[in-house]
Amino acid sequence: MRLRYVTAVLLAWAAAASAQDLDPEAGRALFMDHCMQCHGADARGDGPMSGLLAVSTPDLTTISARNGGVFPTAEVAKQIDGRARVLAHGGDMPIFGPFLDTALQVPLRLPSGQTMMTGVPLAQVMIYLESIQGL
Ligand code: HEC
Repeated sequence: MRLRYVTAVLLAWAAAASAQDLDPEAGRALFMDHCMQCHGADARGDGPMSGLLAVSTPDLTTISARNGGVFPTAEVAKQIDGRARVLAHGGDMPIFGPFLDTALQVPLRLPSGQTMMTGVPLAQVMIYLESIQGL
């Protein structure tokens, strides 16, 4: 019974929160913990480990510019959570995978206007990445 109550509360919270309400600063903090080593503190691809990699590390502030001015939310999410294999991230099991692991989901709006249910930490990182496009 108690467990069912907790689940109901969590579901209500997830339904109430929308990813678009999440704080990009929280996403930036996650980025600094898990991504800046390669992508750099400004996400421009010049992190301390980037020189050691066999492939160049992309500038994450130009994703929209390279995609006709549209931030490709679904594709970027897949590149981060491992559904699209990025070898430098560890393939389908990203090296930073554990921080993405959560049951709490929020709806993330796609350019098409549809929504995609996304775990809260990934949604935060996505909101941060979208906020730095064109900087
Ligand atoms: C070990 C180094 C490393 C870490 C850590 C890392 N990345 Fe990457 N990332 C790369 C490299 C290198 C590529 C390009 C891979 C390729 O072209 O095959 C890439 C590609 C990407 C892309 C595709 C970008 C584009 O323009 O096509 C996104 C988005 C991305 N990373 C986001 C992240 C996020 C968010 C994190 C942290 C959760 C992260 N990465 C952590 C090295 C890293």
